[in-house]
Amino acid sequence: MHIDEIVEKDARYVMPTYGRLKVAFERGRGALLYDTEGREYIDFVAGIAVNVLGHSHPALVEALCEQAKSLMHTSNLYYIEKQAELAERLCTISHMDRVFFCNSGAEAIEGAMKLARRITGRSKFVACEHSFHGRTIGALSITHKPEARLPFMPLLDAEFVPYGDAEAAAAAIDEDTAAFVVEPVQGEGGVNIPPRDFLPAVRDACDDAGALLVLDEVQTGFGRCGRWFAKEHFGVEPDIMTCAKAMAGGFPMGAVLAREGVSFSRGEHGSTFAGSPLACACALATIHTIESEHLIERAERLGRYFLQQLRGVESVLGCKVVEARGMGLMLALEMDGQCASVVDAALANGLLFNCTAGRVLRFVPPLVIEKEHIDRAINFLRENP
Ligand SMILES: Cc1ncc(COP(=O)(O)O)c(C=O)c1O
Repeated sequence: MHIDEIVEKDARYVMPTYGRLKVAFERGRGALLYDTEGREYIDFVAGIAVNVLGHSHPALVEALCEQAKSLMHTSNLYYIEKQAELAERLCTISHMDRVFFCNSGAEAIEGAMKLARRITGRSKFVACEHSFHGRTIGALSITHKPEARLPFMPLLDAEFVPYGDAEAAAAAIDEDTAAFVVEPVQGEGGVNIPPRDFLPAVRDACDDAGALLVLDEVQTGFGRCGRWFAKEHFGVEPDIMTCAKAMAGGFPMGAVLAREGVSFSRGEHGSTFAGSPLACACALATIHTIESEHLIERAERLGRYFLQQLRGVESVLGCKVVEARGMGLMLALEMDGQCASVVDAALANGLLFNCTAGRVLRFVPPLVIEKEHIDRAINFLRENP
């Protein structure tokens, strides 16, 4: 189909929830994507921090096809071999003790909130300004963005504190608090990194108040920040951790992980599709490939190089750079004005960039991206001051 026809059908039949760029992709390989007109793009978005292995990685394609040939879905009415195997792998790499599988980030957050209410018997949540945890009613209640929340009030009982402000967090976390929910590095809020002592301090505040600490690693997990999980940068262990996005390399999957003693009992939670043989096969292949291709070390190494190069960029298309920041291959250039025009210009130059929080150019490429691809992006930024 020609792009104009796709746009026309989309406008006629799809609910207009997304502001889309006028491009549709047909195929991909590694960090490259090809559109319906055959044009090539370097992907610095990776499906919003999803395609860690890049596009159509042979190991993931093979795992998916082989599993599909034998069994895609049964039900959680029965035991699922690959689910048991994946649960063990996840607990090993995350240092958590138990897993509940689900199908997306918002679902993982819903599960975490429900679990925190179940364990503490409390219903208040504390979250951070500029947080993003998803669009379902529970997740939306702790998502800060007013435009996302206000049309759907009333939501659940939640209080917001400035991200990185340990004192404000400690004051808000009290004996009514079920959990403090926080991203170790904020993604949608603009790739914000908290001060080193913030997460350890909120860990203590939760312990003092008998509240749970939920780390939302939906965007930061699976090597993105140069560690399996970003929490490793801060030396903090949560009671509950949420994952999704990169977990199965692009196949929809999420998980709620928890420490021993923090668990649902039989009948308290469930999902028809969760932890299917197909999803688990994709997640196992993703985890295996991250390890066998040393993608965490690669994210750390290439991320350091990329950040160093970004620090040399002073302005883009007339907007001044306020700061270059990030961890691993989760990087950002904060500008002093709207950066949507930079995304458009990059697209016209065969580069997929993303703008978040209005003024932040966010770079979350596949972890398999090549140094030459990064150089192409840097040259574009330097050539368009
Ligand atoms: C930190 C974080 N949590 C939760 C979500 C929601 O995930 P999903 O879109 O899969 O529901 C996102 C999505 O961007 C996210 O970045």
